[in-house]
Amino acid sequence: MEVTLKIFRYNPEVDQKFHYETYTLEAEETDRVLDVLERIKGQKDGTLSFRRSCAHGVCGSDALRINGRNMLACKTLVRDVGEKITVEPILGLKVIKDLIVDMEPFFDNYKKILPYFINESPLPADGKERLQSAEARARFDETTKCILCACCTTSCPSFWASDDYLGPAALVTAHRFIFDDRDEAAAERMQIISETSGLARCHTAYNCTLACPREIPITQAIGELKMVSVTGKLD
Ligand code: SF4
Ligand code: FES
Repeated sequence: MEVTLKIFRYNPEVDQKFHYETYTLEAEETDRVLDVLERIKGQKDGTLSFRRSCAHGVCGSDALRINGRNMLACKTLVRDVGEKITVEPILGLKVIKDLIVDMEPFFDNYKKILPYFINESPLPADGKERLQSAEARARFDETTKCILCACCTTSCPSFWASDDYLGPAALVTAHRFIFDDRDEAAAERMQIISETSGLARCHTAYNCTLACPREIPITQAIGELKMVSVTGKLD
């Protein structure tokens, strides 16, 4: 089939403002949008810039706005988006070049919630690992699946309005550690996400959940954190 891609272009070294360029080429309906972008870069226009690494939905580096919705280019088939495909950078972050945005504000917010395991207590007497029941592990299973692609945060109207909002991705990781019964910093993290740039900025738009390529129930996870902030209880 013949597909036509309308792609956002912006090179700060030569462009006063962004514009769109259109490319038409042959593609299989089972090609991924990433395959088509690679072909455009390799065969039609080597100046086209975009991020990708794993090409298998694992690294989270190729989040793009495809026909107006945030998706991973490597997980999106041509047949799922049709013959006319508009590709733009994710919203709310500064465009560095073409489809590449500055991810630093996203990762700055992520770092604020202490995204690592904290437990200063001595190890068990046998010196081995801290055991956890299967039931306790299941409590935060969904939120361990995040690949930090930013599809959620950059589809959130609250983040567009104010990039100091921690955003859903950071809250998902906060949930992952707050509900881990081996971790000892739940109270500290709850305090961080209860500040004005945190939970209160979530107005349950649900865009994050719809955008997540890992199908993490983000709005539900944020709701669970809101419940903890009201009740002060983790269960
Ligand atoms: Fe991406 Fe989902 Fe993680 Fe958000 S929660 S960064 S959409 S994987
Ligand atoms: Fe790694 Fe798509 S390139 S997730």
